[in-house]
Amino acid sequence: MNLILLGPPGAGKGTQATRIVEKYKVPHISTGDIFRENIKNNTPLGQKAQEYMNKGELVPDQLVVDIALDRLGKDDCKNGFLLDGFPRTVFQADALDKFLKDKGKGIDLVINIEVEDKMLIERLDARRVCPTCAATYNVIGMPPKKEGICDKCNDTLIQRKDDKKETVGNRIKVYHEQTSPLIDYYKEKGLIKDFDGMIGADALFDEIVKAI
Ligand code: AP5
Ligand code: MG
Repeated sequence: MNLILLGPPGAGKGTQATRIVEKYKVPHISTGDIFRENIKNNTPLGQKAQEYMNKGELVPDQLVVDIALDRLGKDDCKNGFLLDGFPRTVFQADALDKFLKDKGKGIDLVINIEVEDKMLIERLDARRVCPTCAATYNVIGMPPKKEGICDKCNDTLIQRKDDKKETVGNRIKVYHEQTSPLIDYYKEKGLIKDFDGMIGADALFDEIVKAI
């Protein structure tokens, strides 16, 4: 089962990804997480990606494609995968399409999570993440059991640098300009299903499971 999670920043892609990979036992491939891991370890890739991420811009296509396809070529992706935040441009989607076709494979479902811009800003402002295990919380709707502390690994939660109000506005703009054309791209291929991301995370997960 080869799945893509599509949606604007703060739509709940990562939140649903955690649930989907637990149920279906497929690897979760988030290009954002790969970049953040590289930033944490101060690698050359991390240094390059950081320039773009801190401004809310997309990392250049060829760089992202090389990283993502390299990851998809690993053994654990042979029986399926869940892509989160990739592809994000038509260039990236074409590269993915070609990569899979060459292997006699394809995408089975694109899960498109729709949330209004106003709600995205509120969610990202309230998001807190664990720097160790990347678990995601929301101080308003989905708080950790103990304030400011990760339920899973007891580390102190932080706010993502790109969740600052000034950056969030640009990320949403970039989504509308560069990523939302993928909705029609996958519609034409008959691969996409739209989901209302304004409902609760558990209710949304039930809808996604039905579609899968
Ligand atoms: P990335 O890490 O992919 O971030 P994003 O797409 O901006 O999305 P987010 O992770 O912010 O949101 P999400 O949809 O995962 O929401 P979440 O589940 O956390 O990318 C970061 C950057 O890396 C990009 O800006 C770019 O620079 C670069 N990059 C990455 N991939 C790239 C690519 N392919 N090409 C080029 N550049 C790339 O939820 C958000 C909040 O809402 C949380 O607090 C959560 O608890 C809450 N929440 C979730 N679901 C619900 C719900 N149903 N109801 C109520 N609250 C909810
Ligand atoms: Mg995410």
